[in-house]
Amino acid sequence: MKKKAVVATILDLGRQPASHQEMGHAFAPTNIALCKYWGKRDTELNLPATPSLSLSLGQKGASCTLRRIDQAYDTYFLNGQPLELLTPFSQRLKNYLDLFRPADSFSFQVTIQTNIPVAAGLASSACGFASLALALNDFFAWELDQRHLSILARLGSGSACRSITPGFVEWHEGVLADGMDSYGESLKEAWPELCIGLVILTEKEKPLSSRAAMERTVATSHLYSSWPLKVKTDLALLKQAIKEQDFKLLGETAESNALTMHALMLSAWPPISYALPETVLAMQRVWELRQDGLAIYFTQDAGPNLKLLFLAKDAEQVRAYFPGVEVLQPQAT
Ligand code: DP6
Repeated sequence: MKKKAVVATILDLGRQPASHQEMGHAFAPTNIALCKYWGKRDTELNLPATPSLSLSLGQKGASCTLRRIDQAYDTYFLNGQPLELLTPFSQRLKNYLDLFRPADSFSFQVTIQTNIPVAAGLASSACGFASLALALNDFFAWELDQRHLSILARLGSGSACRSITPGFVEWHEGVLADGMDSYGESLKEAWPELCIGLVILTEKEKPLSSRAAMERTVATSHLYSSWPLKVKTDLALLKQAIKEQDFKLLGETAESNALTMHALMLSAWPPISYALPETVLAMQRVWELRQDGLAIYFTQDAGPNLKLLFLAKDAEQVRAYFPGVEVLQPQAT
């Protein structure tokens, strides 16, 4: 199994303590992609078909606590609730933890607490798996560097590799078959005035996982072949926008990138749409406000909720137009 080989290579680089700590604990922020990851070159290792770029959301994310328990199977708690072992998320956790068990009889208790709605397109699996990788590093005292922690997080969920480091993070697609060159790395630039507005239209679980939707898009969309070029162009524009603090360029590029990803999904078969009627109304609101001169844009992931992009000076206006919006300023000093 390719994942086991990658883990063995990475753990050889870390410290090899004889035993583990009493407890491992870590927090990881969630991240919102401004240039999306949509499609894989290797589904087992979550190696992407293209690079991507995200913004980490500071205090919004997941805390993970790990302990060893004296029983034959793991137990998982998500936001205070025990998880049934047969749910898809539990299976993903179990498969991931299997990569790190010192012995088959070694069972974990995993407690994950998020402060974002689970599975509502706010990248909770990204911060969940990133916090788990960091908690494992703490539990086993591996002392791995960020690059290798990012690779370990990616094995749980692709976008998790962008949740290890703060700020703007570029996920290098890499070319190596084992993915040792495919990891998230923070850009040196920050943008303290940049705000994200979380417009939560529903907290219901999404009907189709991003993993399944991504696979179906790659397999059936006739538009998918245009995606790598779109990403290449958008990534360059976003980096330029960040360097020059050109908000119009950042907003236009991020919104166009998200809409293109959703257009790919609409062209898949069977077609995929994560939008609710409320999503479309909120998009139209943004377009109208922009026509009226407000610098506001949105991005959308594999769920119906929108994330608004605007600058701090416009936060009051955005709050007035989107009652209930949660405004975050992830890089405020
Ligand atoms: C729409 O990282 O959840 O949020 O690698 O299969 O776990 P897997 O997929 P996942 O996909 C995230 C897709 C996205 C876009 C993005 O975050 O770049």
